[in-house]
Amino acid sequence: MCGIVGYVGKSAATPILIEGLRKLEYRGYDSAGIVTQSDHSLNVRKTVGRIANLQDLLAHEPLEGSIGISHTRWATHGAVNRENAHPHFDQSGRLALVHNGVIENYQKLRDELIEKGEIFYSQTDTEVVAHLIGRIFEKNGKRDRAGLIEAIRHALRQVIGTYGIAVIHADVPGVIIGARHGSPLVLGIGNGEHFLASDVSAIVPHTHDVVYLNDYDIVSLQEEGFEIDTLAGSGADYRISKVEFTAADISKGDYPHYMLKEIFEQPNSVRDAMRGRLSVEEATAKLGGLEMSNSELRSVERLVFSGCGTALHAGMVGEYLVESLAHIPTECEFASEFRYRNLPMTRDTLVFVITQSGETADTLAALRESRRKGHRTLGICNNVASSIARESDGGVYMHAGPEIGVAATKSFTAQLVIMNLLALLLGRIHHLSHADGLRMISELEKLPDLVAKTLEVNEQVRRIACKYARAKSFLFLGRQFNYPVAVEAALKLKETSYIAASGHPSAELKHGIIALVSPEVPSFFIAPEDAVFEKNLSNIEEVKARQGPVVAIGTEGNKSLARIADDVILIPEAPDYLTPILAVIPLQMLAYHTAVELGCDVDKPRNLAKSVTVE
Ligand code: AGP
Repeated sequence: MCGIVGYVGKSAATPILIEGLRKLEYRGYDSAGIVTQSDHSLNVRKTVGRIANLQDLLAHEPLEGSIGISHTRWATHGAVNRENAHPHFDQSGRLALVHNGVIENYQKLRDELIEKGEIFYSQTDTEVVAHLIGRIFEKNGKRDRAGLIEAIRHALRQVIGTYGIAVIHADVPGVIIGARHGSPLVLGIGNGEHFLASDVSAIVPHTHDVVYLNDYDIVSLQEEGFEIDTLAGSGADYRISKVEFTAADISKGDYPHYMLKEIFEQPNSVRDAMRGRLSVEEATAKLGGLEMSNSELRSVERLVFSGCGTALHAGMVGEYLVESLAHIPTECEFASEFRYRNLPMTRDTLVFVITQSGETADTLAALRESRRKGHRTLGICNNVASSIARESDGGVYMHAGPEIGVAATKSFTAQLVIMNLLALLLGRIHHLSHADGLRMISELEKLPDLVAKTLEVNEQVRRIACKYARAKSFLFLGRQFNYPVAVEAALKLKETSYIAASGHPSAELKHGIIALVSPEVPSFFIAPEDAVFEKNLSNIEEVKARQGPVVAIGTEGNKSLARIADDVILIPEAPDYLTPILAVIPLQMLAYHTAVELGCDVDKPRNLAKSVTVE
């Protein structure tokens, strides 16, 4: 939530900051702002809405300077308006600050500052931090880099909450100070120029040398160098990393939207998620990142998966997979509820948190709570440099590549591949035979081709999407492994197209949901030829008997669906446990094409952000 970009060097700051903000727009797009420093003064531009609006404003009112900080906002405190757009200033108007995170004690701090005579111009939690720092800076009277760092350190000691901040001061030329706690910040090291951003995608067009800052780090950037320390002043432990992906990896290429590009990348992302992780010799999966021996894995009595949104749905599929293939009791929990449920967990419970970004606040909190209770807690993560990747006791990377579209697609199927690998590994430790393991490996190896084949339904799905795009609500139904896919499909449609949709186990229909069935409400059944196919067929009949339009996702060669459903989308034949990976693809396409048909902003749906870094 919210994106920060800072630049100091020899080039004009504005184009670099704007380009960076565009890359971070997925983090929030309620408003945007930029401040540059030139001739001992700060100059600011802010607009409501997308980065394009800020860019238009800058075309008419350009900003000079080769140092600046900028922000794209996802509103938490205060309405979406110009006053609440970042950057925010201190009382003197000479210190500017951008912030990602939530200051929990802002009201108390604000009241105290108002009592001392400070005047606030916004309703944000952020503005208190600018005032606090500015006040201490003025009081200390040390108008240099060290003085600014000292003021920031002092101010942040009073702050409760999460922050990634960037600060500049008109009286401290050529210096940006950044600090983080709970919100990501990465430093980019260039040649005579330095960058600061919430995410490496804003930096990668300029340099591949980066430092992922840790919580409680404070960094100062200047044209010629940088310094990193901890907020406590104890010396930071940091390492320069090379970014693996290129600027091309985060471009849309020839696709009109990131979401479509990412849907079409799935043959590769599915392949990458299992690359080097299948051992034919031992007929099992190799997940070295778990850092657990087979005997340690054997003593696991219970598994808990936790995540939010799409990642949660992957965990729900994992629950079915691990229970059926490895016979280990497994549960999937909302990460946002994990702390509040106080789930009783035996000593040998292994916890997995699942997250694309690795920065989701609720998932991070679940990880911390689980570790605090002494459970080994592993991450299934896409973003290798994320907080969750760093704080977990080990885990598995998805290797899905950067996912920019707010609606998660390729990360979901990568997560499902990992769920299968985990089930195979645990299954082989328990009761799966060598032959069973080999069979599963051979099915997994076919998967990238089956995914590529599934993509061929795109045009058919587009037509179906146009047919139903104006329906007032949708039902998604599936059983067993594909019940979570129904829930995921509903989420995809809601977030991209703003249509009410819900996903249910097919058999739940008659317990109340069937009351919604009418000629205006299409029901999408995920009904591959699996162990529960006949049961699904009966549920489809029940809907048809009540004049509900039915679209069925079935297995190639199936004839019975065509006899009752209005439309049938066929996916390649696969074992039951792999069908979710194939079945979700047409449903991702459905969400995409419906959004396009309705003129919605596919990659940046309203009110959303890609990384939800607030609770
Ligand atoms: C999915 O389409 C969503 N945008 C959202 O539910 C997302 O999956 C959720 O916020 C979790 O994100 P994470 O995987 O980065 O933790």
